[in-house]
Amino acid sequence: MAVLGATPTRNLALELARVTEAAAMLAGRYMGRGDKEGADGAAVNAMRLVLSTLDMNGVIVIGEGEKDQAPMLFNGEKVGNGSTPDVDVAVDPVDGTRPLAFGRSNALAMVALAPRGTMFDPGPFLYMNKLAVGREAKGVIDIEKPITENLKAIAKAKGRHVEDLTTIVLDRPRHEGMIAEIRRAGARIRQIPDGDVAAALMTAWPDSGVDVLLGIGGTPEGVIAACALRAMGGEIQGKLYARDESELQRGRDAGYDFEKVLTIDDLVSSEDVFFATTGITDGELLKGVRYQGDHITTESLVVRGLTGTIRRIQATHSTEKLENLSSIHY
Ligand code: FBP
Repeated sequence: MAVLGATPTRNLALELARVTEAAAMLAGRYMGRGDKEGADGAAVNAMRLVLSTLDMNGVIVIGEGEKDQAPMLFNGEKVGNGSTPDVDVAVDPVDGTRPLAFGRSNALAMVALAPRGTMFDPGPFLYMNKLAVGREAKGVIDIEKPITENLKAIAKAKGRHVEDLTTIVLDRPRHEGMIAEIRRAGARIRQIPDGDVAAALMTAWPDSGVDVLLGIGGTPEGVIAACALRAMGGEIQGKLYARDESELQRGRDAGYDFEKVLTIDDLVSSEDVFFATTGITDGELLKGVRYQGDHITTESLVVRGLTGTIRRIQATHSTEKLENLSSIHY
């Protein structure tokens, strides 16, 4: 197991909360304004600035943003002040750009860190089929098996009937066949417009009412969800998904195997992971940003793999004091 440094180690996730808070505070201004690019750009700028202050030698492995040609932190970009530890960094400055731009729920800012060389690099391949569960169903899923079999195994592990399970699925035409299969199996279905990282987290969150995430979503989001689920004790499996023959061929040429099951260990091979996320718009996991004149409030979730500690952080930020200290206008 790779470990970042001598013990006792810093909990970098606490410092990452500052990164996601800043991104959320700036991006939150764009709620409902119909400006996806503006929202993403604001979150990216805030993240870049605050990441540069952290004591670490980071390389962006997951920049997120290629799919929508959105403003982004670039893969290979160096972040942090260059001191140890050497880490891989995955960012999703806004997961749920559409919900944010159109004033809907569950937009989150998120960052994950893991020791250098431990995160899966998906290259330009944007989509992945995913199956994710929380702690109780860890070890019983197999993305190669039919959905019905997986649902039976999850139900058994949770001491429930398949009919009691709630699956969560991105509402996309590509999922029609899968939804028909879940219906045949008898499980309940929640379809969400966006945000499958939040959905993956919900499978591991007590009382979220969600048992399993199924379906095809972003590959970067799959790696970030793997970091969070490692720390929260859940499991995710994925398989790269090619949208057409030419993408499949490009993948093969680049050495990617679309048949290979990517286990949580393949997606992030170290337990020594850190993950932080801050609510931008109100959601089921976290409250969104509130602008209160001279101060702003945020709510974040911060998790650390080595200890399994999960913290919920409510913060009150003085806009005047922050603006005296940094170049960001909140
Ligand atoms: P962004 O807001 O970061 O673009 O992602 C939103 C999202 O819903 C992800 O949570 C999900 O993995 C992906 O988009 C699904 O992609 P698509 O919208 O192309 O089906």
